[in-house]
Amino acid sequence: MMDSEISNAAALNVWEREAVGSQRAGDASLGSPEYFERIRSYRYGYETPFIPRTFRFEALSGKRVLEVGVGNGIDAVEMIRHGAVYTGIDISRNHLRLARRHIELKRATAQLEDLIEGDLLYTELPGDYDVIYSFGVLHHIAHESAYLRKLRGLLKPGGELRIGIYSRWSFFNFYLVATWLLKNRMRNSLNDWSSHIAERSELGQPVVIKIRSYRQIMRVLREAGFVPIHYEKRGFVKNYIPVVGRWLASDGVVLSICAHILGWYHCIIAVPDISLQ
Ligand SMILES: C[S@@+](CC[C@H](N)C(=O)[O-])C[C@H]1O[C@@H](n2cnc3c(N)ncnc32)[C@H](O)[C@@H]1O
Repeated sequence: MMDSEISNAAALNVWEREAVGSQRAGDASLGSPEYFERIRSYRYGYETPFIPRTFRFEALSGKRVLEVGVGNGIDAVEMIRHGAVYTGIDISRNHLRLARRHIELKRATAQLEDLIEGDLLYTELPGDYDVIYSFGVLHHIAHESAYLRKLRGLLKPGGELRIGIYSRWSFFNFYLVATWLLKNRMRNSLNDWSSHIAERSELGQPVVIKIRSYRQIMRVLREAGFVPIHYEKRGFVKNYIPVVGRWLASDGVVLSICAHILGWYHCIIAVPDISLQ
């Protein structure tokens, strides 16, 4: 089997069974307005409140956006709300169904160009996108350089790739390693354990999960023909700080400073390297 087939099979095994983040919806029924509202408020109110600002959703009016890895369509709706003309692609039918439902519930279908089921690498897309956005996806792709090169070809001149990916020097990665040593006692591989904790996969059936340093991810991007133009390290939540953490603003100064040092996400905006065209 090819690398991409292995990583897709593992990803489908996890996300067809349980939609990403659906545990945050509690007892709300899958696909109900309450379901999306609870996931949205956890995402933008607690876990990743920085997403709309860091990825410049406010400046998407009239722009053609391709999102790779749509999840529950929370960011899709937010981007459409800001005027994006939106296409999403995902290998998971479960996620595509939920994203469509969310877009329909918000009566945002007029700006929906397409929702496509398929592996980005093997799917023909019209291209000429102003923005390609992908949060929490690239670190699950086995053959990322081929993916990035494909994405580069789908951008229009001057277009931007905007991605969020896991960071090695982060509080959450230290937590993964510490619990692997102390709780799992290295019975499983670190990849298996990290996938189990971070992605809720069954032990023994991990998704691909690559947790990299700034230097490593910059090298991957440059080798695939991108020039990073903006970088932020984000993703430090109040529950990481005992006692006083709960008094801190989710997207406030203190947690932003902590994230700058030990955030879970590299947030990067990059453009195609024109010297290669
Ligand atoms: C961790 S989820 C992130 C979803 C969403 N962006 C979010 O932040 O909630 C990863 C997503 O990437 C999708 N995915 C994984 N491999 C893919 C591929 N080769 N092509 C398209 N989508 C893929 C998965 O099905 C899943 O929806």
